[in-house]
Amino acid sequence: MVEQYILSIDQGTTSTRTILFDQDGHAVAHAKKEVPQIFRKPGWVEHDAAGIWNDTKQLLNEVILKANIEPYKVAGIGITNQRETTVLWDRITGEPIAPAIVWQSKQTDDIAEKLKDEHEALIYEKTGLWVDAYFSATKIMWLLDTVPGARQKAEQGDLLFGTIDSWLLYKLTDGAVHATDYSNASRTMLFNIHTLDWDDDLLALFNIPRAMLPNVEDSAHVFGYTANYVFFGLQVPISGIAGDQQAALFGHQAFKVGDVKNTYGTGSFIVMNTGDKVAESENGLLSTIAYSLDGHVTYALEGSVFIAGAAIQWLRDGLELISNASETSDLAKQSRIQHPEFIYMVPSFTGLGAPYWDQQTRGAMFGLTRSSTKADVVRATVESLAYQTRDVMTAMMHDTNLEMDSFVVDGGAAVNDYLQQFQADLLQMPVQRPEQLETTALGVAFLAGLGVGYWSGIDALPELDENHIKMPDLALAEEMDATYRRWQKAVRAAQTFPL
Ligand code: G3P
Repeated sequence: MVEQYILSIDQGTTSTRTILFDQDGHAVAHAKKEVPQIFRKPGWVEHDAAGIWNDTKQLLNEVILKANIEPYKVAGIGITNQRETTVLWDRITGEPIAPAIVWQSKQTDDIAEKLKDEHEALIYEKTGLWVDAYFSATKIMWLLDTVPGARQKAEQGDLLFGTIDSWLLYKLTDGAVHATDYSNASRTMLFNIHTLDWDDDLLALFNIPRAMLPNVEDSAHVFGYTANYVFFGLQVPISGIAGDQQAALFGHQAFKVGDVKNTYGTGSFIVMNTGDKVAESENGLLSTIAYSLDGHVTYALEGSVFIAGAAIQWLRDGLELISNASETSDLAKQSRIQHPEFIYMVPSFTGLGAPYWDQQTRGAMFGLTRSSTKADVVRATVESLAYQTRDVMTAMMHDTNLEMDSFVVDGGAAVNDYLQQFQADLLQMPVQRPEQLETTALGVAFLAGLGVGYWSGIDALPELDENHIKMPDLALAEEMDATYRRWQKAVRAAQTFPL
């Protein structure tokens, strides 16, 4: 039999990547381009959607050349993406009408703030999301109201909305398919996660015409085929789509209720499989759709932390304390401060996500003395990733009454030795990471492979090796509880600082 492959597109906030996987789940080749960030005004973050599409097209070709395989050996293509990021494009020209508004962007803070008072309960009940500028709905509304002619076009049915998966699918199929999957739809704040349809009350509330919205489909099935000019003249099925955090959950094969993973990317996204039940949160977590297979939806609880790896980037680009993120582990180990003299850094540069949902708070550092060193500041920043994870894990345990006894990690900071030991100590549970850290791309490769029968079912997926394990130092339990309480005080102090 001819050896075949699955090709994943991982379109993230800071980079677009294509990765080719074989049947054992091994990455055979990678190609990557950075995504230029557009900052037109303070707090705004935008992307050039047309540029992202051009890069994706090139990278699909480049990865095949790198792997040195015949392109017809690609059995299916999967798309995983930065979620919530909003693209509006003209149905006739196929061109975006404005820069894409990125999930982190703040231009719709005011709209979200106004909606909060009156409609938060209704929106949470229908969508599982706490009102915030993070989700797509206020971004669509803002574009319709600020781009000249947009609303009229939308009402005529000539303007389309999509998250990045939908946009890329549309371009890959040369406009033949306007669709998304359940996991991405559940991040728009327009999708009713109980009825599994776009919600008319919410569309009316946000004043968004239904005709703009994509079809919502299973995460693993054939959405469409590549148009002739896209991929070596071949019609390859696009057979898997999932938002990047849900794809990572799938990539860890976290299929059981209570399985939980943390991806340390730009932000940190802790997601727990809750099976066929929507778990309601009383502690600031989101209920969301993990994936849908064969018409069955699996739900998840999510703690979305806005700043994680971005705090390490800030050490490098903002403070210029380091020249490479990989230096932070050794530097943190050089810090000599002992509890209770720890420094606390609250990286709420763009407000606080889960479990606080506070758009106003800004970053703060506590406990500095004249003897504080660069190593101490680096260490406090690295530790802030672990504290924020404990915030979310605590909320998850309260919401689900499940006692978790270990969890899996991936993403850039998962290789930070200092962080992972501190994380294990702080949670007092083992932290595991896989040998191959491309969990997001692997997850959507699994979905795309299932969508074309490359793997016959989830039981036929290749076995994973979550083989790097950090064990907690149990003797530190009390000290870790005490330092965590101080972290909570630091967050409260940052929140009450009047800006
Ligand atoms: O919800 C936002 C998330 O999907 C972004 O992920 O990896 O692109 O920072 P990432």
